[in-house]
Amino acid sequence: MIVELNANCEKYILQLERKFFNIFTVNSIKDDFLNNPYTHYLIYLNDNDVVGFLNYYDIYDRMEIVNFNVLNAFQNKHIGSSLLDKLFEIANNKKIKNITLEVRIDNKKAIHLYHKYGFKEVSIRKNYYQGVDGLLMECEMIKMKDVYVLGIESSCDETSFSIVKNGVDEIATVISSQIDIHKKYGGVVPEIASRAHIKNVTFVLEECLNKANMKMEDITAIAVTYGPGLIGSLLVGVEAAKTLSFLYNKPLIPVHHISGHIYANNLIKRLEFPLIALVISGGHTELILMDKDYSFKKLGGTLDDAVGECYDKVGRVIGVEYPGGPVIDKLAKLGSDTYNLPIPLNDDTYNFSFSGLKSAVINLVHNEEQRGKTINKEDLACSFQNVVIDILTKKTMKALKEYNINNLILAGGVAANNGIRNKFKELCEENNINYTFPSIKYSTDNAAMIAASGYYAYLDNRISDLTINAISSVELK
Ligand code: KG4
Ligand code: ZN
Repeated sequence: MIVELNANCEKYILQLERKFFNIFTVNSIKDDFLNNPYTHYLIYLNDNDVVGFLNYYDIYDRMEIVNFNVLNAFQNKHIGSSLLDKLFEIANNKKIKNITLEVRIDNKKAIHLYHKYGFKEVSIRKNYYQGVDGLLMECEMIKMKDVYVLGIESSCDETSFSIVKNGVDEIATVISSQIDIHKKYGGVVPEIASRAHIKNVTFVLEECLNKANMKMEDITAIAVTYGPGLIGSLLVGVEAAKTLSFLYNKPLIPVHHISGHIYANNLIKRLEFPLIALVISGGHTELILMDKDYSFKKLGGTLDDAVGECYDKVGRVIGVEYPGGPVIDKLAKLGSDTYNLPIPLNDDTYNFSFSGLKSAVINLVHNEEQRGKTINKEDLACSFQNVVIDILTKKTMKALKEYNINNLILAGGVAANNGIRNKFKELCEENNINYTFPSIKYSTDNAAMIAASGYYAYLDNRISDLTINAISSVELK
């Protein structure tokens, strides 16, 4: 049992003094209490015996752990963590912003426990404990409480809601895809997409909350894709987010769609920095360097078509259903590399170009047709995919080497591609590079990635008011 000490707890005060401070008569702890309103003691009782305690100060929105001890005979019984749990409960109720403490640098066990509670090392005080250095540690409270972010994604043809805890634990995700609606037009029709989003939005939200067994009141913050994407589609998600934020008084976090794709990897494994992200989707082809969370440096990008767009157009020419990407991936596995296609923008920059490759495939198909020949779809898919793999791997591996980085992540719909994954896996293993790929399911658009990214934006204080708007074209910052 944990008790907050007050001046009437004579019996416990005496025990504290005798067991932990070797004081037998002086009422020093009691005096400290009466004279200092900032001093508090939490004591852990075992059958009315004090076996552990935590002494802390609270001053405005800060706390300091001054003394913290558990009797030797009662170690390893989670008494320390129970006391810390209680402290965090009090800190949360008092809206404390940060907690600091000082610990002997050789007290590895205590330091490990503090790390588990989110304390970070701040500085070292030389010889603070007579010959032993003191380690100053700090915990920012916002990072401690469980944060449930509701993510909303509607930038293209998926209406999706998701709840993710602390940026890493997916609680529930619902994706309503419109692919079947757009298939008959061979691509996404923007007006139809936004109408379908409007029709779906409330149902998808409801289903997501039901699946998570949560209410809007349980949500900490709302993250929404504000761009880039189809403006009519984006607007539906952004308006939904603003309405929910206003109604339930929750912080609103605008999320860039590409940062979402990047953080889809965080749901597999916590991102390790510095890293290089190869973003390959229907609208993007970019190499991005990240030194830490929410720091994006673009090394290069496509000068014309995105790689996914190229896949879809090639798919259309060889007569496969929209979206062509996944179908070409499957065909490629069955074919051989027999067609000669140019490697586009095979230079020393980190830029890409796919319109030339697309035109080369279109011309090849037309020429063959004019000559009365039929193309071998599997072989063409294989030849095309090999060129794509060549150029993507060449530039990405070069960037890793040049910037001396050994963490790679893939992001975006095209990251679902088997051929691309396999080649990167092989090259990374050869070169001792750590790699993470998003799950196949969350390579393409979804709200789990937006919620994951939203968590780090929340920690970075990227909170917006209700004037935010959807933007169809916007750089990642
Ligand atoms: O990320 P995403 O869902 O939407 C954008 O943000 O653009 O990506 C969709 C793109 C489409 O072009 C689709 O053809 C492509 O990802 N894609 C693939 C594969 N699965 C999806 N491309 C190649 N291979 C795949 N297995
Ligand atoms: Zn996307």
